[in-house]
Amino acid sequence: MSSERTFIAIKPDGVQRGLVGEIIARFERKGFKLVALKMLQPSKEQAEGHYTDLSSKPFFPALVQYFSSGPIVGMVWEGKNVVKSGRTLLGATNPADSLPGTIRGDYAVDVGRNVCHGSDSVESATREIAFWFKPEEVVSWTSHSANQIYE
Ligand code: RTP
Ligand code: MG
Repeated sequence: MSSERTFIAIKPDGVQRGLVGEIIARFERKGFKLVALKMLQPSKEQAEGHYTDLSSKPFFPALVQYFSSGPIVGMVWEGKNVVKSGRTLLGATNPADSLPGTIRGDYAVDVGRNVCHGSDSVESATREIAFWFKPEEVVSWTSHSANQIYE
């Protein structure tokens, strides 16, 4: 069984709007396994570090301001193809293009308030997980549902 991992974050707007439980529930119901979780208030420096690849973009200052404007919930989810599937659960970056049934499609309107973050590749996930979590904060455990989810 694959042990691919992804970093998913509920952004400040998602926390303020009471969507923490809803977003966690969607990943749980899909069959992915939660292996780390924390709530924190990102500093400006942490927001810049998290989105470092986008530092040359015109929207970067607004993005950093938004991501550090309130508490977030950061998580690591594990499962087969979880990076790509996690992005599918989130929906397109711009909620105007996100399909109904996705998190952004169901709960967001503006691209700068799109509720959640998901790693865009296995390499990004590895970097982001190490950025937000100490190794001992990520828990390896066996779900008793594993044989019902994986063939
Ligand atoms: P995320 O990293 O937050 O999961 O979002 P993403 O991969 O779908 O999109 P990305 O290109 O990484 O952009 C990060 C966040 O920046 C904001 N954004 N604004 N104004 C704009 O054109 C624009 N483009 C992106 C969004 O909040 C996006 O999630
Ligand atoms: Mg991204």
